[in-house]
Amino acid sequence: MPQASDALVLFGATGDLCHRKIYPALYHLVERGRLDVPIVGVARAGWTAEQFAGRVRESVGKFVPQANDDVVSRLIALLRYVDGDYRQSPTFQALRRCLGVASRPLHYLAIPPSMFPEVVTMLGSSGCAAGARVVVEKPFGRDLPSALALNHTLHEVFDESAIFRIDHYLGKEPVQNLLYFRFANSFLEPVWNRNYVASVQITMAEKLGIAGRGRFYEEAGAIRDVIQNHLLQIVAFLAMEPPVRYARDALRDEKVKVFRAIRPLDPGKIVRGQFEGYRQEPGVAPDSRVETFAAVRLQIDSWRWSGVPFFLRTGKCLPVTATEVVVDLRPPPANVFGVLAPGQPNYLRFRLGPDVAIALGARTKQPGPAMQGREVELLVSQQQADAMDAYERLIGDAMVGDAVLFAREDEVEAAWAVVDPVLRAQTPVYEYPQDSWGPPQAEAIIAEGPCSWHNPGEEPRDWTRASGREETRKSAP
Ligand code: BG6
Repeated sequence: MPQASDALVLFGATGDLCHRKIYPALYHLVERGRLDVPIVGVARAGWTAEQFAGRVRESVGKFVPQANDDVVSRLIALLRYVDGDYRQSPTFQALRRCLGVASRPLHYLAIPPSMFPEVVTMLGSSGCAAGARVVVEKPFGRDLPSALALNHTLHEVFDESAIFRIDHYLGKEPVQNLLYFRFANSFLEPVWNRNYVASVQITMAEKLGIAGRGRFYEEAGAIRDVIQNHLLQIVAFLAMEPPVRYARDALRDEKVKVFRAIRPLDPGKIVRGQFEGYRQEPGVAPDSRVETFAAVRLQIDSWRWSGVPFFLRTGKCLPVTATEVVVDLRPPPANVFGVLAPGQPNYLRFRLGPDVAIALGARTKQPGPAMQGREVELLVSQQQADAMDAYERLIGDAMVGDAVLFAREDEVEAAWAVVDPVLRAQTPVYEYPQDSWGPPQAEAIIAEGPCSWHNPGEEPRDWTRASGREETRKSAP
């Protein structure tokens, strides 16, 4: 059993990620009795320990509804602060002193990736890395060569078993449920393959734009920001073979196999878009060609999935915020009751956010004299919100050395290898109006599949009603 970390160090303690996600997660960890070790914030902000504590209070006040005063006090009592430049060794000497007797700290790098090498090297030379773990935030590099270089830098100081590459999608309850649903049931397995599945679609739609993150987004774009990591992780959970058990390397071995079986993306099979007004955002170049929307088609050359297209789509400023997977099954082999339309043959729908559902689309007979059908959805699971925030789950896991939900070196590299060819390709970037489903050119991507794009609906939905999905199979079989 790995030993639990005895201190938590947050680099980037004054930053946005800590403010929005990490401090609320720490509150909940303290609330559940899972965190009672010193928490050291590190930043170069010229702040005092009191200012740092004030920032943590502010974050909890804003992002934790009805926070309990006693829990807040317990969290504040754990805080320490080190102010200094990440390139200067006195900062790290001060950190080592601040850690006191702690000998197994967890260092969380909530800082821009360009600073990783210096911080990691300084952690090593100052003695702060001895016995320590490190959590690295995405993006893990900008492309395959930089990911290889980053992994090399990390390995100069940390063993792979001490490196926790965080992808918060892996900590989300519905994403975990996807994995659970696949491998805790037996009825799915017989149809979960190229013989029964016609296509798989994943849409990650966001109503919001880039929310003031222009500088960050200019370096990223939709492919680096969410396709290489969040969406490919979902693909892995959908496409992987059963792991021998739910354990660190058993699961990750299977994910790596999926990534290696995905054909590197063909620049001819991607449509990039940019929402109107993006170039006027602060921090964005007036002639920027960075994509805020992307639609791609993946092919997985495996025994199970050969020939089944996986369509992925993501975008900012779309009509809704929702992440949904739709697995369309092939139509019945013979059409006993005549024309099947309107509607479509069976499908499975995994709603991964903001609300959560697993549903099976089926056809039943329309009441009445004729043998006519209608489409219904059988709701398999329903839940309004995450019982546990992804960051809470993942920080808690990293503190006790549980890496099952973190990305391994070879996994990250294999995922970059999938997207690498399109990162360099100068494919056109089409403008699309805000509140639309992206540029119309994205239809060309799905045109080769059996269905049109399934646009996720607004939430909350009335899940108890028969489905009224508008999208249909392109032509009745
Ligand atoms: C982040 C991306 O990793 O994920 C953001 O950098 C994106 O651009 C976010 O908005 C989406 O996460 P969630 O949990 O809100 O679906």
